[in-house]
Amino acid sequence: MLKELQKLAAFIGNTPLIELKNNDANLFAKLEYNNFSGSSKDRAAFSIIYNGIKSGKISENTTIIASSSGNLAIAVASICKRLRLNFVPVIDPNINSAYETLLNLMSHKVVKVTERDHTGGYLLTRINVVNELHAKTPDSFIADQYGDPNNYKGYYGLGEEIISSFENLDYIFVAVSSSGAITGISDFIKRNKPEVKIVGVDVEGSVIFSDKPVKRYISGIGASQVPPIMENAIIDDVVIVSQMSIIRGCNELLNEQAIFAGASSGAVYLAAKNYFRFNDIEESKATSLLIFPDKGHTYLDTIYNQEWGSQLAAKLNEEVLSTNF
Ligand SMILES: Cc1ncc(COP(=O)(O)O)c(C=O)c1O
Repeated sequence: MLKELQKLAAFIGNTPLIELKNNDANLFAKLEYNNFSGSSKDRAAFSIIYNGIKSGKISENTTIIASSSGNLAIAVASICKRLRLNFVPVIDPNINSAYETLLNLMSHKVVKVTERDHTGGYLLTRINVVNELHAKTPDSFIADQYGDPNNYKGYYGLGEEIISSFENLDYIFVAVSSSGAITGISDFIKRNKPEVKIVGVDVEGSVIFSDKPVKRYISGIGASQVPPIMENAIIDDVVIVSQMSIIRGCNELLNEQAIFAGASSGAVYLAAKNYFRFNDIEESKATSLLIFPDKGHTYLDTIYNQEWGSQLAAKLNEEVLSTNF
């Protein structure tokens, strides 16, 4: 199986680097959606499965279980398909319909939770269901993006690519969800170029950086718990972006750069632009790298749909009102 997996390695990583048009700072973006299954999660999934096989925890008959409503599930599903392993993703209603359809085509069985956890998200419910499935499925392995250090170690390669691409780099902006990307990148970069500042980008309502939990409707960024692997991250600064701003960020990215990317890319783009525009940071000509994890296609019904955006604005207003009274 490792040999088969090694063949895939040629299609994961070494993603394109593009310079963005901007007046306040030099911005570059790493187009992580060019990875094999379409997102940066290929790096995490590859690393988790590879090390699972290497350590003997995964064999030909193992069922892989994962809690993910998005790119990790797609990445694990692709690898499992190639290795002929059974895969059971545990998803939630925030999943977009294209991913749900694809996962149904690629997986052994899809389990969908419907109850929100006490933080307003679904993560904790999904994790409970994953643990139950693991307990009752003999020879099963949890691809645990929140707790398995092989998630963040999968991003050391991205760190290496960054180091070899820039002579001078001041900031890296990374969206945070399981924290694999920011933990792996920061761990690697700080050991090699400690002067580079790492800025985490999160969505309002996510509890990762202790924001007040509110209902989140945008997938791919944020979490309902602080991911345990994040204790290995070295983060210099954090920008919290509102859900409506993420929609704006995605549209600006499309209109200003002709880059059609997912929610977290829009969040990172807006965060980086405003960071230099409003913070009056002395090094206004700083060089920054933005990580763009996935493409926009799966967000056409949400982020890129005006009606969905208006409904979200109304819902968020209602929530603010109802917590005020
Ligand atoms: C859409 C999206 N946003 C953000 C990220 C970074 O998230 P994490 O913190 O889980 O590594 C990923 C990871 O691949 C992603 O797919």
